[in-house]
Amino acid sequence: MSPSVTALPAHSVVSGTLWGVGVGPGDPELLTLKAVRVLRAAPVIAYLAPLEGKGLARRIAAAVLEDGIARTEIALRMRFTVDRHSAQAAYDHGAAAIAGHLVAGRDVAVLCEGDPLFFGSFAYIMARLEARFPVEVIPGVGSLAACSAALRQAFALLDDRAAVIPASRTADEITATLAVVDAAAIIKVGRHLAKVAGVLERLGLLERAWHVERASQPEARVRPLTAVMAETREAAAYFSMVLVYKGEKTCDVVKEDPSNSGGGAWPVGREDGAAHCSGPARGASARVQGAGAGGR
Ligand SMILES: C[S@@+](CC[C@H](N)C(=O)[O-])C[C@H]1O[C@@H](n2cnc3c(N)ncnc32)[C@H](O)[C@@H]1O
Repeated sequence: MSPSVTALPAHSVVSGTLWGVGVGPGDPELLTLKAVRVLRAAPVIAYLAPLEGKGLARRIAAAVLEDGIARTEIALRMRFTVDRHSAQAAYDHGAAAIAGHLVAGRDVAVLCEGDPLFFGSFAYIMARLEARFPVEVIPGVGSLAACSAALRQAFALLDDRAAVIPASRTADEITATLAVVDAAAIIKVGRHLAKVAGVLERLGLLERAWHVERASQPEARVRPLTAVMAETREAAAYFSMVLVYKGEKTCDVVKEDPSNSGGGAWPVGREDGAAHCSGPARGASARVQGAGAGGR
């Protein structure tokens, strides 16, 4: 053993690293290589969970973690309500448990649905620990990317102004934001479904709005928002968002003659010669009821 190691006093054990690991929107194949490597190597994993059961992030990472290796698991259990006290207490409690492992030199990987810092709860854990421990964040595939992919429509293009709007905002606030953007994703729809649909209707945007639910997961569904409203006005799934494109940009592609371009630039597009793109429901009728949501 080297002298430098034997000379270290017990209290100078190097602390572990806190990892925020994005596990993507649901499909385990959307975990990044780096996320898989770090999760497999971490002796301790932590994740948010309901009062019973594992929680979405843990379920997404299950395939990676079923490797026969023993790990310590910390479930930060909380009621998923608007009551922030319960959440704050769970973060305090969880951060203290995580800190115990970091102090002892063990890395802790916090599993985060989607991306850790896109409306992600990892920010609350990081805020409690970053002054004392090294922190690394591994970005994940976010739900906005997954929903655009499921819809097979560009979220925004060129100089489009785009916004992400939590549906918990008031109708007036959602209206004001929609007024100044070309593209919007309205997240956390849940029990705010009727309010969101009402705002879009008043703005004449209801027919352009798509509802994407559980993107990249086996239960994924992609529907016009009008179809959702015909079924229920009560509530949408929590893991769902509304995508609406107000802009007028299209991706029409002029076909070139391959013989002139050396065959290298023949555009991939639809039969009418236009590449699929944003725009009011271009080819929309073909994209309904879970079609194109991974087909799984
Ligand atoms: C607290 S935010 C977390 C976002 C997450 N960190 C991310 O990067 O996507 C939760 C909201 O994200 C959206 N969301 C998350 N996963 C989704 C999915 N697979 N399909 C549709 N929407 C999803 C929903 O609007 C949900 O209410």
